[in-house]
Amino acid sequence: MADVDYTQLEKRLGKQLLARRLKIQSHHVVRLFGAGRARLHIGNIRILHRIMRRTLKVLGIYRIGYRNAMNLRVEQNEVFFSGLPQAFDGFRILHISDAHIDDNPKLLSIIQDKAGNLDYDICVFTGDFREGTFEDYRIPSQHMAELVQNLNAPVYAVLGNHDCIEMVPLLESAGIRILLNERVVFERGKASLYLLGVDDPHYYETDDLEKATEGMPNDAFCILLAHSPQIIRKAAFSGVDFYLCGHTHGGQTCLPGGHPILANSRCRKDQRKGAWKYHRLQGYTSRGAGTSSVNVRFNCPPEITVHTLRCK
Ligand SMILES: [Fe+2]
Repeated sequence: MADVDYTQLEKRLGKQLLARRLKIQSHHVVRLFGAGRARLHIGNIRILHRIMRRTLKVLGIYRIGYRNAMNLRVEQNEVFFSGLPQAFDGFRILHISDAHIDDNPKLLSIIQDKAGNLDYDICVFTGDFREGTFEDYRIPSQHMAELVQNLNAPVYAVLGNHDCIEMVPLLESAGIRILLNERVVFERGKASLYLLGVDDPHYYETDDLEKATEGMPNDAFCILLAHSPQIIRKAAFSGVDFYLCGHTHGGQTCLPGGHPILANSRCRKDQRKGAWKYHRLQGYTSRGAGTSSVNVRFNCPPEITVHTLRCK
């Protein structure tokens, strides 16, 4: 990892948060047990994956689960806001989360095909580009570079708990602007729309919403990208209007009716997937495009989502 310019990353993320991220990344214990707001990480126990895969094969349902995992849906989510500037009425965001692309590169062409037919103003990724936390991060970064080549709008993203900070320069050179507790502003005439992104709040706890919102006008219309739903309450009382996240995979393996067996995040039940509201904050938790641990899904189809913003 000697080729990475940590000075630039330190300027953007801050000395303390970068140091924390790097320490956690290299700490052996977190391979099994979580840091910050996380607990046990089943995703890092390889032997358990093999047992799960073998069990599903013996039960004869692995192929069904794999087919489900490849059956990517395009979800449409129309959201109404009283504070949205008129100039941004109809603004479309393509939202892709949890691709875990190194675990299943076949998804690349599936996402490209589905996204190719869609209209959107910007594309956002809410983290977990990769699956193998301890494998070479260059591989998923290359896959992502291939994927975004065919997206026809500016691309913004935040890192997830599976992503390392060293991926930032590679992803950015591919055209994906990573928001490390940072923001960008879109302008149409005199109207502005703020897009904020925080670093992973689940595993690394390197999110800094205060820094991302610093100096922003009080009445600004503001969209937040965060990997997980864990800072919803804070966002709601920090002036965020729309919160986009993933991480939960919607449960990935669910009981009939879509009830997750594992929650994978400390949040309200209704915030684990799909559209939700918390006080005046509206949000959406993506079920994700990819899979983690084992390439199967049950009662929980993968998704990419088009959010259309509307004035109330
Ligand atoms: Fe994920």
